[in-house]
Amino acid sequence: MNINRSNKIIAALPKGKLLAPAFAKLKIAGYEFSDTEKRSRKLIIADTSKSVRVLFVKPSDVPIYVEHGIADFGIVGRDSLVESCVDVFEPLELDFGRCGLAIAGYPRDENHDWRLRSSVRVATKYPNIARWYFDKLGVQAEIIALHGSVELGVLAGLADVIVDIVETGTTLKENGLTVFEEILPVTAIFIINKASHKLKLHELDRIVSAIKG
Ligand code: PRP
Repeated sequence: MNINRSNKIIAALPKGKLLAPAFAKLKIAGYEFSDTEKRSRKLIIADTSKSVRVLFVKPSDVPIYVEHGIADFGIVGRDSLVESCVDVFEPLELDFGRCGLAIAGYPRDENHDWRLRSSVRVATKYPNIARWYFDKLGVQAEIIALHGSVELGVLAGLADVIVDIVETGTTLKENGLTVFEEILPVTAIFIINKASHKLKLHELDRIVSAIKG
């Protein structure tokens, strides 16, 4: 069932760290939500004026809901957006969710020429980006897709390096690892479904302008 058949706006918001600042942006655009509902286990909630419905989505799934037109717009990190390879509009880079996607590993390996190994084992939650980047470097890589605690891949000997998000650097530091090079600077992005951009242009433009302003 496609829930997006009405003229109301549907938003896909990422569960986790980006959720609170994403709601703050919707508030700037004039949409208020009940705190009780925001904290509930409900997966779909409406704002107090019933103009917008919010879908609570796993961050990596936000681009999929928006590309398929289930949500008119979404807020998502550039890491998840690039990894998903979706075709959506990206009218606005947001001022939160700043971090970087980087190659990291043991400091002892940093200055060794790990690029010249016959094959590098890379643990990551971003297999598409990792494949693209190592191909670009001309380095033969075995990409090992994990779903979390990627640093453990190196500590436990599953991989030589990781491609992962570095925000404060604490996880790397506390596990004796270091950044070798940054692949992609990341912030949160406001994305819009291409059909919605035509059909609901006025309201979506108003939201983007309010958040920008
Ligand atoms: C992310 C990322 C790193 C960590 C980086 O993991 O994958 O592990 O945060 O943050 P830091 O530089 O501030 O330490 P997340 O907390 O999302 O958990 P996960 O590893 O289970 O996916």
